[in-house]
Amino acid sequence: MENFVFQNPTRILFGRGQIAALATELPADARVLLLAGGGSIKENGVHAQVVKALGARTVREFWGVEANPDYDTLMRAVEIVKTEKLDWILPVGGGSVLDGAKFVAAAALYDRDPWTILTTRAAHVTAALPIGAVLTLPATGSEANGASVVSRRAIKEKLAFISPHVFPRFSILDPETTFSLPTRQVANGIGDAFCHVIEQYLTFPAHARVQDRFAEGILRTLVEIGPRTLSHPTDYDTRANFVWAATTALNGWISVGVPQDWATHIIGHELTALHGIDHARTLAIVLPELLNAERVAKRAKLLQYAERVWDLRDGSEDARIDAAIAKTRAFYESLGIKTRLADYDVPVATAAEVARRLAARGMSAFGDRGLITPAKVEHILRAAA
Ligand code: NZQ
Ligand code: ZN
Repeated sequence: MENFVFQNPTRILFGRGQIAALATELPADARVLLLAGGGSIKENGVHAQVVKALGARTVREFWGVEANPDYDTLMRAVEIVKTEKLDWILPVGGGSVLDGAKFVAAAALYDRDPWTILTTRAAHVTAALPIGAVLTLPATGSEANGASVVSRRAIKEKLAFISPHVFPRFSILDPETTFSLPTRQVANGIGDAFCHVIEQYLTFPAHARVQDRFAEGILRTLVEIGPRTLSHPTDYDTRANFVWAATTALNGWISVGVPQDWATHIIGHELTALHGIDHARTLAIVLPELLNAERVAKRAKLLQYAERVWDLRDGSEDARIDAAIAKTRAFYESLGIKTRLADYDVPVATAAEVARRLAARGMSAFGDRGLITPAKVEHILRAAA
């Protein structure tokens, strides 16, 4: 296991009725920017709960943060924060609203061109306004990490930044707020969380037993509860397990001291930037073929994954690896998530285009061992056609 420093500053308030805690979690004199998406929180009653808990505080509402939050939209929110001297950011919604809040919080205190927050992966971010989050969609882990992904549709880009300054100070996770999610978003959430674990686990052995067993526990939990939380959306205990699984998949616990990959995400973000495909669906397209392409480098962990996550113990090593990859694809398909580019009407020429874009960005060798080159990206996407 590598040396590591672990700190996760986000305080989690989990369970029914926790939105009321906003009344005490936020300072009484906070000047709040309430950031929201397209209106789901109005329809499911979450907005009303939040407004009630905020009481007499000064609150400015900003609506319209898109799925895959857009830079130009977020910059309008930054202007409001500056002109109205707001000092807390309160995202209420899914990962996109939370990610958007992180960008707004950092950009409001940034004196360079705000786009460079994304192009330099926050190299110059030294401060951010405090964030308190109310999460309504389990998927990204954004509620308890320092990552944010922002799209800029005007130039077809989608870039991420990571900064210790944008961890939410607190996040409220009430599973009941997720009961109103459409099936498609629940499936996306399961598929995204599953891939987050894979990116930190299915690499190469690092003698990290706690992290491995924890990762396998999250994966098995998602496989176990995924179908039920899709078919029984208001079964509280199943949904609560899903919410916590998604948080623990990307709050840093399983990544300490071990190699990480993220190649599936890096390639997937390009597919969203170019074709607007939902984030989780891009992962379902890339992951099976990436595992197949990397089956030699990832051999030891693929065999461990086959045995401990899918109970595959019989047959040759290659047969077990084939079966584990097939199970992975079948899991996504069972959630209603298609796993081929053709399913999304994406032409095979996109394979070369994604490779070209990554090469232009200097991404010449990435993944857990730096083995993913633009040429390999093209190969993987051609195989996923
Ligand atoms: O906009 P509203 O009306 O709120 O509707 C949203 C949106 O249309 C809806 N929704 C959210 N909660 C709901 C609800 N509808 C009914 N009931 C509820 N309770 O769901 C739709 C999708 O929301 P979105 O926030 O876009 O989904 P998700 O949470 O999957 O976030 C995706 C974004 O997160 C990024 C992705 O790239 C993508 O931009 N990621 C962020 C990460 C991070 N910060 O660590 C890591 C991830 O790998 C990912 O890249
Ligand atoms: Zn993801």
